[in-house]
Amino acid sequence: MKALEVTGVSKIFADKTIALEDISFSIDQGEFCVIAGSNGSGKSVLMSLIAGLDEPTGGSVNLFGNSAGLVFQDADSQILGETPEEDVAFGAKNFGLKKEALEACVKSSLEQTGLLHKRSAYARTLSGGEKRRLAVSGILATNRSLIIFDEPFANLDWPGVRQVCAVLKKLKDEKKTIIVLTHELEKILALADKFIVLDKGKIRFEGTPQEGLRQNLEQWSIKNPAAHYSTLEDMLWL
Ligand SMILES: Nc1ncnc2c1ncn2[C@@H]1O[C@H](COP(=O)(O)OP(=O)(O)OP(=O)(O)O)[C@@H](O)[C@H]1O
Ligand SMILES: [Mg+2]
Repeated sequence: MKALEVTGVSKIFADKTIALEDISFSIDQGEFCVIAGSNGSGKSVLMSLIAGLDEPTGGSVNLFGNSAGLVFQDADSQILGETPEEDVAFGAKNFGLKKEALEACVKSSLEQTGLLHKRSAYARTLSGGEKRRLAVSGILATNRSLIIFDEPFANLDWPGVRQVCAVLKKLKDEKKTIIVLTHELEKILALADKFIVLDKGKIRFEGTPQEGLRQNLEQWSIKNPAAHYSTLEDMLWL
């Protein structure tokens, strides 16, 4: 059963920037899709069109009744509460939870991203990585069937990446439909059922992760994650 169908979607902004050009793909219920693309390839614009935050210039998006939960690339823009606890509670309240259930949900959501010890801190003073963990906690607290993560690893250290990956795996095991927009394939590609490459507003590849790794990804400005880092000389992206 399809969870999302994007058909012939284009987005041209007032300044004539063509952000997306004739994009078509679909995602099944419970499928985990990684969409890779370099800076400016159109990932965030695509997310806002799927979520209905903006209208496409052409084409259509069908969510088949799903409501999309979003984890924004800009973690700051997503903070609504004074403290992490309050922030996560906002979403959970909207989802209809009350008192004990609400408290338990907030606690568990913050625990899963390693942020429980900061639950009463002033949210605006959290570090970049902590703000991203908070955004992920917020989405955990709202039981969405389709969740889109826009660059979920930005600013995260290694433990942070592992926590977000554990959350993503848990959501996948719960049969949620997940879209991860990222260029950091080495952190997440193994969880994907479907892999799409976006470049200059167009889909250049759609297939399995295995097929994707056999492509020349660099032609679309994506580093192939199968690269090795065994010598000091490897540790320079020049
Ligand atoms: N409101 C806007 N007006 C004009 N151009 C825009 C607007 N929003 C986005 N764009 C352009 O659309 C293109 C795609 O932007 P988008 O934010 O989707 O890229 P991205 O793939 O998310 O990049 P990044 O990896 O840097 O987050 C870019 O060229 C961007 O400058
Ligand atoms: Mg973006």
